[in-house]
Amino acid sequence: MKPAFYVTTPIYYVNDVPHIGHAYTTVAADVLARYKRLMGYEVCFLTGSDEHGQKVEKAAITAGETPLELADRVVKRFQALWERLGISNTDFIRTTQERHKKGVAHIFTDILEKGDIYLGEYEDWYCTPCETFWTETQLSDNRCPDCNRPVEKLKEESYFFRMSKYQQALLEHIEANPDFIQPKSKRNEIISFVKEGLRDLSVSRTTFTWGIPVPGNEKHVIYVWFDALTNYVTALGYPDATPEYGRFWPVDVHLIGKDILRFHSVYWPTFLMAAGLPLPKKVYAHGWWTVEGQKMSKSLQNVVEPNMLIDKYGVDVVRYFLLREVPFGLDGDFSHAALVQRLNSDLANDLGNLLSRSTAMAVKYFNGVLPEPAELTESDLALKKKTVEMVTAVDACMDDLAFSKALQAIWDVISAGNKYIDEQAPWTLAKDQALNDRLATVMYCLLESQRIVHCILSAFLPATTEKALCSLGCPKEVDQAVLAWGGLKAGTTVCKAEALFPRMEG
Ligand code: MSP
Repeated sequence: MKPAFYVTTPIYYVNDVPHIGHAYTTVAADVLARYKRLMGYEVCFLTGSDEHGQKVEKAAITAGETPLELADRVVKRFQALWERLGISNTDFIRTTQERHKKGVAHIFTDILEKGDIYLGEYEDWYCTPCETFWTETQLSDNRCPDCNRPVEKLKEESYFFRMSKYQQALLEHIEANPDFIQPKSKRNEIISFVKEGLRDLSVSRTTFTWGIPVPGNEKHVIYVWFDALTNYVTALGYPDATPEYGRFWPVDVHLIGKDILRFHSVYWPTFLMAAGLPLPKKVYAHGWWTVEGQKMSKSLQNVVEPNMLIDKYGVDVVRYFLLREVPFGLDGDFSHAALVQRLNSDLANDLGNLLSRSTAMAVKYFNGVLPEPAELTESDLALKKKTVEMVTAVDACMDDLAFSKALQAIWDVISAGNKYIDEQAPWTLAKDQALNDRLATVMYCLLESQRIVHCILSAFLPATTEKALCSLGCPKEVDQAVLAWGGLKAGTTVCKAEALFPRMEG
């Protein structure tokens, strides 16, 4: 049986339309999912939508719709975008689905019955956009310390989760599992936060109704983060002991943005501890994108719409740029100029040009029928070694979610291929019939190196890989075996690759 791998994205709020921030996490999760499939794993890849809470309720009122009408409308935009971006999720959960509501009610009741949820009274400062209560001391200038918007004093009867009880157990877990929270800088922030002390957490609201009712006390709805986080298990069929739950929980990695790390690395694990369920193996918080140096926001009207980028540049260019430009875990800046630069230099010049040059030569010198290579010389062996070692290096990078570094390792092989052509000069070898065997070997090494490059790139640039493998006369289905040197067979018919990425003016 294949080994199992489970990766998730956050579930996105439906009061906003999708932008590059959402696309970023989802593309990263997709690349990981595709890579793990390539390496022989059975992958569960979950994304979805977060549809309850006051924010969605307010947005619906403004739009003159019911919250569910709003959700039905906006969720389609997310799903259509994921399709365009080539996202290979295996499930899509909406928090308004029965399977989810049932699971949330169950875990809430379970923790209540075990004594770690109790009824009390709450008074504190509340930030509606962030759906978060803050203490007086946490406020910055009487505003929300996260988003800097005004907060309001709220007092309500509330159910509380005994989070304080789990402070020590959580700290011990974080310390015993260095990979649990990544990257490291973020892990340290969470350790300090937990050490400052965990307060019991309000997990119900009575000031609005759009949510999952507290079982047995329906004037309360369950706090939207308690509801939302539970999606990661309800999608697997929790509370039923389904085969999916048995196979995929605990999750291998929750991919999230840095702004929601506390919810995922403090709240969620303590809820799970209280319910007696295993904790996620890893929570990875990536950085944030600014746009042309500024914070992306509706009011600045600089929100980057992924559909527009796909129309303008093509889907694989967007996928490549997002993962190559900024090391995962750090903040980065989006600009059209930087994107065009990557497109022209990395994709059009390096990757695309190498393939069209080498396939054109195979057609010209051998009628497109790949010849048998003779014995490899030192320079052939060097290209082979570089290619083979790249496969191992990429694997290590993917374990660390170092997407940008993985792409760099792949591009080192592409550069080596470009250099190899220039040094071996097939056009000179072609002039002398006596050097035909040497020409055959050079063409073989050149194309074989690129075949492996494109196979491994299938995780990042699936649409491009299909075209490239087609011109190399190889099947578009890829698995771990295709990453070994020697997969390209003599006699294969190669055809000239069209430009994979047309250059663009800056
Ligand atoms: N609904 C919650 C998540 C619940 S998960 C159980 C939520 N939704 S969100 O739609 O507001 O944000 C989802 C993700 O988008 C977050 O991981 C956030 O970090 C990411 N981004 C939003 N803006 C972003 C940037 N400008 N840059 C990078 N990622 C950003 O939070």
